[in-house]
Amino acid sequence: MHRKNEVCRVCGGRTFTKFLELGDQPLANAFLTAEQVKAGKEDKFPLDVYVCHGCWHAQLLDVVSKETLFSHYLYFSTTTKTMPAHFASFAKEVADVHTKKGDFVVEIGSNDGILLAAFDPRERRILGVEPATNVAEFARKERAIPTMNRFWTPETATEITRDLGKAKVIISNNVIGHIDDLAGVTKGVKILLEPDGTWIWEAPYLVDLIEKNEFDTVYHEHLAYFAVHPARAMLERGGLKLVDVKRFGIHGGTIRVYAKHEEAPDEPSAEVQKLLALEKSMKLDTPEPYLALGERVKKLRTDLNQMLADLKAQGKRIAAYGAPAKGNTLLNYCGIGAQVLDYAQDTTPVKQGLYTPGMHVPVVHPAEFRKSPPDVALMLAWNYEREILEKEAEFRKRGGKFLIPIPTPRLV
Ligand code: TYD
Ligand code: ZN
Repeated sequence: MHRKNEVCRVCGGRTFTKFLELGDQPLANAFLTAEQVKAGKEDKFPLDVYVCHGCWHAQLLDVVSKETLFSHYLYFSTTTKTMPAHFASFAKEVADVHTKKGDFVVEIGSNDGILLAAFDPRERRILGVEPATNVAEFARKERAIPTMNRFWTPETATEITRDLGKAKVIISNNVIGHIDDLAGVTKGVKILLEPDGTWIWEAPYLVDLIEKNEFDTVYHEHLAYFAVHPARAMLERGGLKLVDVKRFGIHGGTIRVYAKHEEAPDEPSAEVQKLLALEKSMKLDTPEPYLALGERVKKLRTDLNQMLADLKAQGKRIAAYGAPAKGNTLLNYCGIGAQVLDYAQDTTPVKQGLYTPGMHVPVVHPAEFRKSPPDVALMLAWNYEREILEKEAEFRKRGGKFLIPIPTPRLV
């Protein structure tokens, strides 16, 4: 179920600095039933982040098998307001700028089909590739999105090319970092992408992770923490070329990377040069900024636990707002469980009625939050801060406070 890599998945290097040690942790999306909690058996795996001295790619070396992680998945992209809006504008850009009528668009890791649903099926041919059976089924049945229930491999790419032809655009949002065999990912893209096609992918940006102490975005599914520099190295190794990159606020800070075949005439944009220079100025090609992050994260844990202890001492009721995967990294690393949190409210139906992995906080329907609001809500889904503060104006008006843990714990 778990093994440890010895070499960097971008450059093959063998020298690393370990800079975040988050302890043995359960899988962040492995919510438990009451029976499973009672049975007391829960798999835990080391959660440590390393940076490679060859290409300075930040990554996990402990790999949990993809079948364990992704065959049944509790993450549905559509549970919030922010993401559908982001996807709609992404789809519009792909439709307007990168494709024309009749072109074929393939999404790797298409989840519940939210992004592909934004394309007009009469204008573009679309296909999703999604390994989680339950999520793929939802996309097919509820959204009528053609979805192949498969992992992304060179074989999958070959099969699609044979049956449906090459793709003008390949999209992948927050999936590349989930895949251990990065060389296999780029190989598949090389096979399926039209000669003048574009591969556009998004991943959380390492610069934001470091600047905003977003250590909780680390969990076993996320094998890679991309900066532009190692992303370029990965593309070049795969016979591809980095041509453009854009930065977004989504998920705490995201980059959208545009790649073409290495033979393409395109030159890297000014934005590529700008972000490479930024990374250089942050000394991301030395161990220091990584080790400094490690120290800040230890302090964050101490400070957050102190604040929670003080609130408890004042007799305050505390609950978690949202039960995202990242929340489980935070709760497990800080040791915050049901003795501190009455419950975690979450809008995702499949999570409700279950318990958070490791700390076993019961996940409840948002109605519970309405009926019995806590004094303080620990905002685990801090990447939706604005959406949540707006939505919960009533709670705040009545004196309710949010405790936002990232980048440093503060009461709002
Ligand atoms: P998200 O941050 O997208 O992902 P991850 O699991 O990768 O860390 O998850 C957000 C979670 O927060 C999701 O389970 C839904 C929940 N949520 C709420 O319960 N209420 C809300 O108002 C919002 C915005 C999110
Ligand atoms: Zn490397």
